[in-house]
Amino acid sequence: MKIFVLTGAGVSAESGLGTFRDKDGVWTQYDLNEVATPEGFARNPALVRAFYNARRENLAGAVANAAHDALARLEAGLAARGGALFLCTQNVDDLHERAGSQRVIHMHGELAVSRCHACQATWPDTAPLTAEIVCEACGREGAARPHIVWFGEIPLYMEEIEDALSEADLFVSIGTSGSVYPAAGFVEMARAMGVPTCEINLEPSANAYVFDEKLYGPASETVPAWVERVLTQG
Ligand code: APR
Repeated sequence: MKIFVLTGAGVSAESGLGTFRDKDGVWTQYDLNEVATPEGFARNPALVRAFYNARRENLAGAVANAAHDALARLEAGLAARGGALFLCTQNVDDLHERAGSQRVIHMHGELAVSRCHACQATWPDTAPLTAEIVCEACGREGAARPHIVWFGEIPLYMEEIEDALSEADLFVSIGTSGSVYPAAGFVEMARAMGVPTCEINLEPSANAYVFDEKLYGPASETVPAWVERVLTQG
């Protein structure tokens, strides 16, 4: 059985990482145009670096929760049965990896990776971003940014994602509000290809009506229960 799982901020909410659009979400505290667009970075790179440095600090103290652990078990369990999990996340945290997931597709990039805005070289980095960083690949100083896909930029791995969607026996969306495309459109793509769909979320998302099955509640409870069901039903 091949399962395509898409995760969003809701899967990391119980690890203490804020979501974006809940009542006290990140985008209620910061203007995304200022801190999550190329124009914002060009206007005020110091503000953008400070925003991501604060999120790096927050991530350093976070711990994967039962939802992350269950998805790592699902990956191993499916592989043991000759199946496969395609785990695509909108999240830029590394909690899926810390929980033991071996293959994680970060379509919006990764917070623990920096990128040279000039030559696009990337390098693992959890230290604070500064204007003094010199790119080892091209020698530019002051071009270091987080390796994160900003609004207006193209998400990563889209070809691989579309291939995996077309081969899936089940599409499951976990902890996402369904408000940001192209991720929010994956359920429609799956449905158009005749793939059964399931939403697991705290509450109905913007595109809840599209899903065949819906499970609501905190991810740390709903995801382990769902994984248990999938792995025992075989
Ligand atoms: N368990 C399950 N779901 C939860 C929980 C929880 N404990 N807490 C919140 N949620 C749900 C909310 O109900 C909401 O539907 O998680 C979803 C979070 O939605 P958003 O904050 O919009 O986050 P997300 O969907 O991941 O945002 C998508 O937008 O800002 C950009 O690039 C950023 O990747 C992000 C993208």
